[in-house]
Amino acid sequence: VSIGIDLGTSGLKALALTPEGHAVAEAGAAYPLLTPRPGWTEQNPADWLEAARKALAELTGKLEAGGYTPVALGLSGQMHGGVFLDGGGEVVRPAPLWNDQRTAEACAELEAAVPRAELIRRTGNPAVTGFQLPKLLWLRRAEPGAFARTRRVLLPKDYLGFALTGRAATEPSDASGTGALDLARQDWDAELLAALGLDVGLFPTVIPSHGVVGGLKAEWARATGLPEGLPVVAGAGDNAGAAIGLGLSSARPGVGSVSLGTSGVIFLPLEHPTPDPHGRVHLFCHADGGYHLLGVTLAAAGSLQWYRDRLAPGVPFDALMQEAAAVPPGSEGLLFLPYLAGERSPHLDPDLRGAWLGLSLAHARGHLTRALLEGVAFSLRDVLEVMKPLAAADRLLAIGGGARSELWLSVLAAVLEAPLARTPVEEGPARGAALLGLVGAGVYGSVGEMLEATAPASDPLPGHPEPAYAAAYERFKAGFRAVAGVARA
Ligand code: XUL
Repeated sequence: VSIGIDLGTSGLKALALTPEGHAVAEAGAAYPLLTPRPGWTEQNPADWLEAARKALAELTGKLEAGGYTPVALGLSGQMHGGVFLDGGGEVVRPAPLWNDQRTAEACAELEAAVPRAELIRRTGNPAVTGFQLPKLLWLRRAEPGAFARTRRVLLPKDYLGFALTGRAATEPSDASGTGALDLARQDWDAELLAALGLDVGLFPTVIPSHGVVGGLKAEWARATGLPEGLPVVAGAGDNAGAAIGLGLSSARPGVGSVSLGTSGVIFLPLEHPTPDPHGRVHLFCHADGGYHLLGVTLAAAGSLQWYRDRLAPGVPFDALMQEAAAVPPGSEGLLFLPYLAGERSPHLDPDLRGAWLGLSLAHARGHLTRALLEGVAFSLRDVLEVMKPLAAADRLLAIGGGARSELWLSVLAAVLEAPLARTPVEEGPARGAALLGLVGAGVYGSVGEMLEATAPASDPLPGHPEPAYAAAYERFKAGFRAVAGVARA
């Protein structure tokens, strides 16, 4: 079997897959999210290592009981975070995460040094608050002592790889989320870094996503029961990792995914790097040598969770969904703008705020709920509209907790005007990490061959065109303009 790790924001998951891609065992461990100041999110990298030790020891126990032998361990995890290490490989300060908002000034500094259009042309993206490079610029200004001690900066899963093997390396899918990778060459942009006064030597070597970082160290073998020297494979950022698990290949563009998780994500594979000239959606490397577009709307199922917890506590989701299903499409004029946490794609504005617009005495709870489901779908449509001229979207696999609702899926299909499909895969990024591990261990000759062998069959969902949404989407866009002028943090 191959082991895949997903170093997530709330916890770490370890999963073992057979070479055919069947999951045989799983284990996990949680860790805290630190919010030392408003807008800051951090984690202690030592907590990740402790969780990895626990989860891997538990997983090894299950594998031994089942008679399975591990052949590789692949990594995936939350993107964009900054782990700052000193010359001895010790962590200098807690790691700011992907959803940390402290870098507004650093982003301005970045775009003052390298014009936005050039940044997009070189790295695929403008300066984005959550990315790693602005975190490094923030450190230099805000904590010069810590910056002076920093000899290396790693992404979260790559820090785990460094701890497991003693070697610092990264791979293109996660490295492209730093903001410092030359997309076309899939290697660090030394010229860009020099323009910022940063040494390219701060960053680790870039190897292919299926490349072997190193062998598992003896101390980790002792702590987990895994074999010493087990090949640790570079893997992928969590979005590319999940896409590998779904069988999404940049050699077969057109099939992508749409996720209704806490955040909403659209992933479209691409053969060649074609950035949105305005940088409204992200362009990253895929883990198969190609590229992908990524759009992230921050509050998708997270909006529904907030709504249920704060405004309808104790009411089962099913009951809320039934009330919503009884309301006609378009929610009789009620609109919801899902910017509860600001917005990433396509507005790149952390200060936006949400709203229900158009309330009347005729509206009841079912309208509020239905408008919320529709509003999240409209915000994903905003993302897809930016992506359409850049990449094909012939079929989107629907994933994430919200995709378990028939109603939400049917709203999404009608609003996106794109064919959706269901997939049996539920394991997320850890599955992709384990699959890349199989390539690293030589079980498959290439990522393409592995994807051919392990891509799950998907089941198309019937799409019903719904004229009511065309008018409602126009109102949503007008509503955005109104809210953007008023509702700000
Ligand atoms: C992608 C992103 C998130 C993190 C969280 O750009 O910020 O998906 O990777 O896990």
